[in-house]
Amino acid sequence: MCGIAAYIGQKEAAPIVLEAIKKLEYRGYDSCGIVTLNDSLTCKKGTGKIEDVDKQVNFLSLRGNVGMGHTRWATHGEPSDRNAHPHFSCDNNIAIVHNGIIENSEELKTILVKSGHNFRSETDTEVVVHLIEELINEGNSMEEAFVKTLKLIEGAFAIVAMNKNEPNKLYAVKQSSPLVLGIGENEIFIASDVLPIQPYTNKVVYLQDEDFVVITKDNYEIKNLSKIKVNREVTILNENLEEISKGNFEHFMLKEIYEQPETIKRAFRGRIDKDNAKFGGLNISNEQLKKIKRIVLTGCGTSWHACLVGGSYFQEISKIAAQVEYASEFRYKNPVLGEDDLLIVLSQSGETADSIAAIQEAKSKNVKTIGLVNVVGSSIARMVDGGIYLHAGHEIGVASTKTFTSHLTALYLLSIYLGRINGNLSKEKAKEMLNDLEKLPEKINEVFSSVDEIKKIASKYFKSKNALYLGRHYNFPVALEGALKLKEISYIHAEGYPAAEMKHGPIALIDENMPVIVIAPEDRLYSKVMSNIQEVKSRKGKVIVVTTDATKNGFDEVILIPKVSEFLMPIISVIPVQLLAYYIAKERGCDIDKPRNLAKSVTVE
Ligand code: G6P
Repeated sequence: MCGIAAYIGQKEAAPIVLEAIKKLEYRGYDSCGIVTLNDSLTCKKGTGKIEDVDKQVNFLSLRGNVGMGHTRWATHGEPSDRNAHPHFSCDNNIAIVHNGIIENSEELKTILVKSGHNFRSETDTEVVVHLIEELINEGNSMEEAFVKTLKLIEGAFAIVAMNKNEPNKLYAVKQSSPLVLGIGENEIFIASDVLPIQPYTNKVVYLQDEDFVVITKDNYEIKNLSKIKVNREVTILNENLEEISKGNFEHFMLKEIYEQPETIKRAFRGRIDKDNAKFGGLNISNEQLKKIKRIVLTGCGTSWHACLVGGSYFQEISKIAAQVEYASEFRYKNPVLGEDDLLIVLSQSGETADSIAAIQEAKSKNVKTIGLVNVVGSSIARMVDGGIYLHAGHEIGVASTKTFTSHLTALYLLSIYLGRINGNLSKEKAKEMLNDLEKLPEKINEVFSSVDEIKKIASKYFKSKNALYLGRHYNFPVALEGALKLKEISYIHAEGYPAAEMKHGPIALIDENMPVIVIAPEDRLYSKVMSNIQEVKSRKGKVIVVTTDATKNGFDEVILIPKVSEFLMPIISVIPVQLLAYYIAKERGCDIDKPRNLAKSVTVE
């Protein structure tokens, strides 16, 4: 993973690069570093989050109009000062920052060590800078040496390099990991995504695989690895500059949970047309969509949980067979795919490596792909045949919240659309379902009135070592999501289970210390879930019920939620479990927006 950023221009580079890597911290925060060029290359780096490292090293003391920085999510080598990027050649004349994995680093390192190179870190990255140095020592120019190096390394990489002897240049390359150029007036920015570039320019160039760029402050030249010039379109970003601040909230996660009435609206705004949904960017004709016999949904983490709900929508609303796959597993199963299939990929970031690989797998088999993505212009958004943007705004909290409910909203609309065009959903039913959706944001506001109850529950159970989340059908993915949120931000072990499956194993874990959170709205499975609850109670488990049933008592705790249709219930019922995880993590004093070991965007396999 990792985030990289660089600047070349007339201003001081360090403040720009520092702000940039802070904006990329969602990609990892194990360590960070910045190098600038001012006569010589000067570098400061350290272990931990940028704010803390900055206090120790004072990044702004670095001088120079050229610089680059890195925020790391450790793969090869523990989080430590020596493994923090930038990495340097033996003579300290060349520096690089890297996002990705160099898969053949061990064998290259063996060769380089034999040639006398002194490695100072345990990273896979360091081989790149020594290779460049080796090739320069053999008489190559920096450009030739870098290009030759790229032919020797395997894996995924976005790399930026600078050479003390070429003070007016930056070199960059993209292969599988994202990299964007920002084109300003007498200044050029480079970053892993557009977020750090947006404050300075709306002109960006999304680099493509095998693009190699030589950059000066007022020019950039993109070539492929055969050194043939390539032209890449300059995209004008028209997204409004959204202020990234916590407002009055203590954490981004809490702010993002509370944004959901609005973000859900943004996911359906302009997409409702009386008795059908409508979309601007599907790019697949209704004729083709009508022929779809099976939908494969894929994603990772929270997006995969949203896929589970989506799979049920397509089956029940559009009457199309649906299959849900972990993106990380999908391509290794040699999936049988044909032209009647449609792959739908869900991703907040649009950069998740495994989800990208799933699209590549589908494309190699001529299967149409649709992406449901939040980040505009991200890799997934650009590679799918058609897409639906979530328009949820930046999600900063590492634990996804608002994009889960936006994904569900978009999936609900898409299942209505497909059901209408294949004739499996009546106009009347579609109209009713769309009306239900329009009322949903108000209902979410009602959930927030349970927050005091949720805080009380959190203060009672925050010392638990384990928790079990149960739900059925549409609320089973919510159980998984509730457990994931709790694990991610509070480090309490938690599992989500289909309520009836519990008796096939997890029931053995239940005792008086086990909180069991049951998502139990009054739907067609309500009485069955009530029986499952009795099974927990008989074994002295502590039952926390998320329900629409105001009359129920006999549970240890009740969180009331408003009644909505069965289809929309997961969008409502997930909110209390998001809040519960949040308040439990808060009681435990955890770093909620930046939980340990995690990163928001996982750009390695
Ligand atoms: C990481 C994040 C999760 C996210 C998952 C998928 O693990 O920490 O919150 O759900 O990646 O990311 P995506 O951007 O593809 O939705």
